[in-house]
Amino acid sequence: VKPVKRVAVTGAAGQIAYSLLFRVARGDLLGDDQPVILQLLELPQALDALRGVVMELEDCAFPLLQSVEISDDPRVAFRDVDYALLVGSRPRTKGMERRDLLAANAAIFRTQGQALNDVASRDVKVLVVGNPANTNALITRRFAPELPADAITAMIRLDHNRAVSKLAARCGVPVASVNRMVVWGNHSPTMYPDYRYAQIGQDSARALLADERWNRDVFIPEVARRGTAIIEARGASSAASAANAAIDQMRDWVYGSAGQWVSMSVPSDGSYGIPEGLMFGVPVICRNGAFERVTGLEIDALSRERIDASVRELMEEADAVDALFSAGAR
Ligand code: NAI
Repeated sequence: VKPVKRVAVTGAAGQIAYSLLFRVARGDLLGDDQPVILQLLELPQALDALRGVVMELEDCAFPLLQSVEISDDPRVAFRDVDYALLVGSRPRTKGMERRDLLAANAAIFRTQGQALNDVASRDVKVLVVGNPANTNALITRRFAPELPADAITAMIRLDHNRAVSKLAARCGVPVASVNRMVVWGNHSPTMYPDYRYAQIGQDSARALLADERWNRDVFIPEVARRGTAIIEARGASSAASAANAAIDQMRDWVYGSAGQWVSMSVPSDGSYGIPEGLMFGVPVICRNGAFERVTGLEIDALSRERIDASVRELMEEADAVDALFSAGAR
């Protein structure tokens, strides 16, 4: 048997976690021969609800699940963890200004970044799901300077999966035949789903479709607004699909993407006109437990415009966060 791996999940009593935990415990993340310990973090007022979730985990009798620990202290929940899925965050409530939302999350991800820095495994992989995910990841990274530069990513895989699914449906092909999809930017309506390089089998999707109007008027806006459409239909935000995307992104990162391009929000290396260090959705190929940025793609006028919109938005958030931390939020 393999040595056990420790997986931390924050926001563990929330709706995404309610899908995520059971799938991690049955082996969907790390494989059906990898025993796991779950280390769950919640706010004090949600610990009772979390105990209920733990009872359900026990009642599944998952052979791979060695134990479950719960805490409201990140230094306990992150101790020696190999993987951390940061799902919990402060949601925007009625009347809350964007600035207050950023400030509340800056405080959360600062504390969690410091805790990861101090107590997690030195090889930890951290995936930030909680919104605003890209900026929360930027803050986590800022306060975890002793972790490797590429230890922290943010989730853009849900948008990537949505884009793959939509393109496959438009072309009338199975999703598995789509490769080289890219979603650039922020996990927000400024994101840019880009199928200019996508292949259907060996063929170029763009040549096959030759429908620029569909790209501009349907594909890009509908992928970007999919989250809102789900809230309108379901009365709650995407949860099972978000959990699924978190598993996809982390699993590919750990075990490789088999040569496929996948989108991940990672610290920019300065290419494509994206300021260095910004957490930005870009195409990567995962192998040997690492991600490699896909380089040298041509950026046309529409792409430039869309990427710049996400850059602007994320720079504004980064500046607001800088102001917070220099204005004595330390
Ligand atoms: P939820 O509200 O059902 O659950 C969030 C949980 O996090 C709550 O139980 C809450 O008590 C907990 N929490 C809040 N602050 C915490 C802290 N400091 N430490 C530990 N736990 C904390 O929300 P849901 O639906 O599970 O979504 C979670 C987050 O994921 C939200 O921010 C949501 O916007 C985001 N999301 C991100 C997506 C992406 O693609 N990046 C996609 C879908 C959702």
